[in-house]
Amino acid sequence: MIPGEMTYIEAQGAGGPEVLAPKRGPVPRPGAGEVLIRVTGAGVNRPDLAQRSGRYPPPAGASPVLGLEVSGRVASLGEGACGFKSGEEVIALLAGGGYAEFCLAPAPQCLPLPPGLSLVEGAALPEALFTAWTNLFEHGHAKAGESVLVHGGSGGIGTIAIQLLRAFGARVFTTAGSEEKCEACLKLGAEAAINYKTHDFVEKLREITAGKGVDLILDMVGGDYLRRNVEILAEDGRLLQIAFQKDSEIRFNFLPLLTKRLTLRGSTLRSRSVAEKGEIAKALKKKVWPQIEAGKVKPVIFKTFPLAEAASAHRVMEAGGHIGKILLAAG
Ligand SMILES: NC(=O)c1ccc[n+]([C@@H]2O[C@H](COP(=O)([O-])OP(=O)(O)OC[C@H]3O[C@@H](n4cnc5c(N)ncnc54)[C@H](OP(=O)(O)O)[C@@H]3O)[C@@H](O)[C@H]2O)c1
Repeated sequence: MIPGEMTYIEAQGAGGPEVLAPKRGPVPRPGAGEVLIRVTGAGVNRPDLAQRSGRYPPPAGASPVLGLEVSGRVASLGEGACGFKSGEEVIALLAGGGYAEFCLAPAPQCLPLPPGLSLVEGAALPEALFTAWTNLFEHGHAKAGESVLVHGGSGGIGTIAIQLLRAFGARVFTTAGSEEKCEACLKLGAEAAINYKTHDFVEKLREITAGKGVDLILDMVGGDYLRRNVEILAEDGRLLQIAFQKDSEIRFNFLPLLTKRLTLRGSTLRSRSVAEKGEIAKALKKKVWPQIEAGKVKPVIFKTFPLAEAASAHRVMEAGGHIGKILLAAG
């Protein structure tokens, strides 16, 4: 039975976590090609914080409700939406709408819950897996034996990126902001974890790689890290930029791009088409689901809050002490 009304989290104007409050409203109806999901878990992501504070408006046509990833059961299917059955356990990447008891997802962006995970755990995967896979393996062509630096190794993206790279045979180095976070990165399979508050990662990696540098870098920091990343990339190295938590405007000498034949590539997931996200989903199911089933890739969950406590979940993410993902449990 699908009820007429549901609880969702409304951002009552732009502002701090206090603007988030539970509200009642109609359950959305699936359009052509869409799946209506009865939400079990929803991931909290940094773009949600930016959207809540008015700095990152949802793209045209997307739900104004926060939430870029969920897990749950298929409640109904819109015309032409195929590949899933009513009641099936799925996870989905969304353009919005996840902080709710029900949400809509384009069918190509849904995947069956990977074997061995609880339905709530599944909510921790879509953003991190789609982002890490497309950047590291599709854009960055990560290969077994290559050395990869993952900045923010203890974050939602970082914890999955480390495990994925290890599962496919790469050597992984990370940065993190405390000894506890570095320890967590090592446990996930990183060969070295550098506390960026006490050590210079360029110096440390020069030592570790005997001067060669690293083949690939996943960066979400930006600012002065751009120059330092270019400095520590090996010949034919690739830099994948997925966010700028520091400045996106910086002046430095790009000459090493020529002399070391470097590639610098950036992307955002949210702005990509349903078809493109669907292709990433197919690759994940084929290549990564077996790794999850084998226990080589597992979501790291810091804390799960009831949906109604979304504001508290945002406060915890803003405080920055988390290791892994923060989730909301809707049902
Ligand atoms: N482009 C895309 O397609 C895409 C998709 C998804 C997410 N993102 C972005 O990727 C970023 C990470 O997402 P997330 O879910 O992993 O967020 P998260 O869990 O909050 O992690 C943020 C990470 O950034 C690290 N960090 C911040 N300042 C740093 C610095 N100066 N040096 C090294 N690390 C630093 C933090 O490390 P400490 O806690 O140790 O300080 C933390 O691990 C966010 O900005 C998000 O918006 C981009």
